[in-house]
Amino acid sequence: MSSLPLRATPDFRAVMLAVIGDAPPSRGDFASDLLAALAQRPRAIAPKHFYDAAGSALFERICELPEYYPTRTELALLRRHAREMAECIGADAEIVEFGAGSSRKVRLLLDALRTPRRFVPIDISAEHLHEAAARLRADYPALEVLPLAADFTRRLTLPPAAGSRVGFFPGSSIGNFDPDDALAFLRAAAAVLDRGLLIGVDLVKDPARLHAAYNDAAGVTAAFNLNLLARANRELGADFDLAAFDHYAYYDPRRQRIEMHLVSRRAQTVRLCGQAFGFDAGESLHTENSYKYTVEQFHALAREAGYRPGAVWVDDERLFSVHWLAL
Ligand SMILES: C[S@@+](CC[C@H](N)C(=O)[O-])C[C@H]1O[C@@H](n2cnc3c(N)ncnc32)[C@H](O)[C@@H]1O
Repeated sequence: MSSLPLRATPDFRAVMLAVIGDAPPSRGDFASDLLAALAQRPRAIAPKHFYDAAGSALFERICELPEYYPTRTELALLRRHAREMAECIGADAEIVEFGAGSSRKVRLLLDALRTPRRFVPIDISAEHLHEAAARLRADYPALEVLPLAADFTRRLTLPPAAGSRVGFFPGSSIGNFDPDDALAFLRAAAAVLDRGLLIGVDLVKDPARLHAAYNDAAGVTAAFNLNLLARANRELGADFDLAAFDHYAYYDPRRQRIEMHLVSRRAQTVRLCGQAFGFDAGESLHTENSYKYTVEQFHALAREAGYRPGAVWVDDERLFSVHWLAL
């Protein structure tokens, strides 16, 4: 395994994409981040901690919800335009997917690509990643599949490339970064990629549509959000009472982002790793942001990060976009 060069920039703050092998984030990372989140005001924790095996399974259920348009819409764009996307990517590519999850979307690309050399799915949720990689190997026996259980916001070591390296970052996970961190991530990705990045970005739209997507009638998004506390109870011996917290998600049009919170229903004390943390009634733990962009705003961000925005594919309802960003 070799370290890849990092392009350091003044904006290179929280996000440091560059190096690791197959080193899944430890339980200690979750414990220290949650302790730090509970000790600060306002309380906030990175959304990467949603994704243990149970969180990944809940996310798969979210993808099937009628209200959750992003997965359906992005899949339809990939299905309809896979050939054009494959033209942008070119032959003999190594595809590195950031936050690969079930690796469902990449199949549409793999089917359209000429002689893909290797697929490197990176995900923080190790069990889910390795199961998806095994299914992919069975379905694409000629393809080398090299999963890396790692946190892509940390130093990341990639093995020597097997072809021209191209990034794939679907699911609008870029929206989970604040704009400064999104810029830093895109710059760090550029430093390890050769030809460019194919990236899915959720678009600014009617707030009611956004509200429904993050407040589904079946309560799956609420269960996904609450899984953070269930995970703390399972892994860290915390004593969160899940019935004493509400899922709360809303769209802030000024910041162009969905905010997701867990709000305490009453005054209560929670114990974690030998420490006690008080919650007032109505006090929140901020668990996720999901920024929405216009095509023009995202192009400006990509240019600032050193890419040349190329083709962009958008559905007829203008819900979602997939961008080719060339290097
Ligand atoms: C919103 S889901 C998207 C999954 C899939 N790419 C898709 O488009 O359906 C985010 C995925 O990224 C992974 N993930 C989140 N934060 C991560 C991080 N910091 N490092 C690595 N993987 C991460 C999660 O485990 C999850 O599989």
